[in-house]
Amino acid sequence: MMQDGSPAEGAQTAAVHVQRFAVAFEYPVYFTERLFDPANPVLVEALARLEPERRHRCLVFLDDGLLRCRPGLGQQIADYARAHASRMRLVCPPLPVPGGERIKSELFFVEQMQQRFYEHNIDRHSYVIAIGGGAVLDAVGLVAAVTHRGVRLIRVPTTVLAQDDSGVGVKNGVNLYGVKNFVGTFAPPFAVLNDFDLLSALAPRDKIAGIAEAVKVALIRDGVFFTWLERHANGLLTFEHAAMAEMIRRCAELHLHQIAYGGDPFETGSARPLDYGHWSAHKLESLTKHHVRHGEAVAIGMALDARYSVLAGLLAAGQEERICALLEHLGFRLWHPAFESRRPDGSLAILEGLREFREHLGGELTVTLLADIGRGVEVHEIDDGRMRAAMTWLQERDRTP
Ligand SMILES: NC(=O)c1ccc[n+]([C@@H]2O[C@H](COP(=O)([O-])OP(=O)(O)OC[C@H]3O[C@@H](n4cnc5c(N)ncnc54)[C@H](O)[C@@H]3O)[C@@H](O)[C@H]2O)c1
Ligand SMILES: [Zn+2]
Repeated sequence: MMQDGSPAEGAQTAAVHVQRFAVAFEYPVYFTERLFDPANPVLVEALARLEPERRHRCLVFLDDGLLRCRPGLGQQIADYARAHASRMRLVCPPLPVPGGERIKSELFFVEQMQQRFYEHNIDRHSYVIAIGGGAVLDAVGLVAAVTHRGVRLIRVPTTVLAQDDSGVGVKNGVNLYGVKNFVGTFAPPFAVLNDFDLLSALAPRDKIAGIAEAVKVALIRDGVFFTWLERHANGLLTFEHAAMAEMIRRCAELHLHQIAYGGDPFETGSARPLDYGHWSAHKLESLTKHHVRHGEAVAIGMALDARYSVLAGLLAAGQEERICALLEHLGFRLWHPAFESRRPDGSLAILEGLREFREHLGGELTVTLLADIGRGVEVHEIDDGRMRAAMTWLQERDRTP
């Protein structure tokens, strides 16, 4: 720069225009029953939300685990579309896809689904309807998000976990190189349709697993809901209609509230407030090659981090017992032998989960612990020795009859 303020000859100058705009997202989350009964208007209402006059083209993917329990479901959906033929049309009969983690772990399925989009000329005004557990929703969601840079996705979650947690949120993803959700996007759906009736065929194990996410969100956000869960534990255990439906709805609402008002819906910062108990849970899932369900792993992870919170002086002693008692009452076992797996250098493999948890986001390690039942607190350091002590506590508890 010359003394008179003009750039020196040959000096580099840069012009910058700061581009800024905001996009508001909005999607309805319905709670209904018998979604595919032609008398139920929810699906067709959701489809026609923006363009009521159009006849909407739909490509439907169906979780084959659900289909095994409800063999007539594909036909029922076709009948529903026929009954509402003026507003919707299926481009082909509903297509079964593998349920469970397999669909997320073999990229072949992603490519196969993408091919169906191509064959049926699915464009940005068509709809993809994903009906299934969290795994199917994650995989179809990814394909919908990247094909034509985003096709409208309607999610119909069919597990408790997908209805109260994963299916109502804004994320999708598949696994690669053995890393969970290594490839994925943030992509809000067009609508989410929770049909309580679809849960009836679920295996008891899967029904219970989804309750873990309700305990989680209660622990970090809502002490009153935690007490409600304690009071209704018996009803939840037996899958009593009113208790279960209320639990799903309240959990989904708390989840949605965090996304809308937490200030970081696409997780650009280092915090993962909804992931209490998840750093060890994700690692446990991969150490057991997904033999442990996500919810089962989260139950163990929450118990572990509750005890750690006490040892770190954050949570009053005794509260961890209360948390473990509820989880056990609900039928969760709070220990898994994979916690003892060691890496070749002798270190505990589960602790590797902390590093992977940080790497997923980059930036600073941020783990949510508990300051109280109903109040999460973020910490940026975890002491290995103290974490090992928390594990020993869990293991000894498990051995005590
Ligand atoms: N996107 C997110 O924000 C998010 C959040 C949490 C978890 N997840 C993902 O969700 C997945 C776990 O989902 P999940 O717990 O729903 O289990 P899942 O999708 O693995 O399904 C479990 C089993 O239930 C079967 N099934 C599904 N619905 C059924 C029904 N109604 N009746 C009978 N069987 C049925 C499936 O075929 C499968 O065999 C994991 O991959 C996890 O990473 C995603
Ligand atoms: Zn979870």
